[in-house]
Amino acid sequence: MRIYRFDEIDSTNDYLKTMKELEEGDVVITKIQHSGRGRRGNKWIAKEGAGLFSFVLKEDKELDENEYMKLSLVVGYSLFKSLKKIESLNYKFKWINDIYLNEKKLSGILIEKIDEYYIIGIGININNEIDETLKEIAISLSETTGKIYEIEKIILDVVKDFFEEFKKFKNGNWLKILQFLNENNYLFGKRVEISYGDVRERGVVGEILENGELEIFQKDEIKNYNIGEIHILTRD
Ligand code: BTN
Repeated sequence: MRIYRFDEIDSTNDYLKTMKELEEGDVVITKIQHSGRGRRGNKWIAKEGAGLFSFVLKEDKELDENEYMKLSLVVGYSLFKSLKKIESLNYKFKWINDIYLNEKKLSGILIEKIDEYYIIGIGININNEIDETLKEIAISLSETTGKIYEIEKIILDVVKDFFEEFKKFKNGNWLKILQFLNENNYLFGKRVEISYGDVRERGVVGEILENGELEIFQKDEIKNYNIGEIHILTRD
C-alpha cells in the first residue's frame, strides 16, 4: 500500500486521477483541499480536522459489470461499519452513499473511474468545526462526542475495512449488505424530490432494491432509480 500525504492539495480524487501508474490500495490523504469535489458537480467544503482521502480499487474483470453498479452502496456500507467501530452512534445510511447522524451529513463519497481503476474519495467530518454556511446540514464526530480523534488511523482503518468488505461482497455477501442498508435507510418513508439532468420527480421513498436501485412511490406508479440527487421535502 502506497500512502501519499499532503498538508494541502486541490482534491485527493484529482491527484489520483492524474497519477501516471496507479496501483490498487494507493491512498492519498490531505489536511486541506482547495477544490474538494462532491457528487453531481457539488463542492465539498471542510475545514482542517476532516478526514479527506481517496484510494484506488482496481477493476476485477472476473466480476460482472452489473455488480459494480453496487460499488457505491458497498463503500457506504463498509464506511458505516467502520464508523460504528469508532463510535457506536445512531448513524443512518442515505442512498446512495452518504452517512447521516442526527439528521445531518457526517460523510460523503465520490467514486470516479479512470481506465480500469475506481478512485474512491471519502470526506468524513471528524475533528473539524463545520463551516458556518453548512451548520444546518452537516455534523462532525467531535462536535457530537466532544472527543478528538486520530485522523490518519481512522482513514487507514476505513480503507482496510473496505477491502475486507469488498472481498466478502465478491464472495456473495450482497443480500446481507442490502438488508443492513435497508435497516438503516435514512430516506425510508420520507417525502422527497429526486433530480437528475433536468428531471425532477416527487414521491415517498421505499426500499433499496436488490439491484441497488431506490424505489420511490409516486402518484400512480412506483419508480426505481439508479441515479439522482435526493432532496427531502418538508412540505408539499
Ligand atoms: C458528496 O457527498 O457529494 C461526496 C463528497 C466527497 C468528498 C471527498 S473529500 C476527499 C475526496 N476528494 C474530493 O475532491 N472529493 C472526495
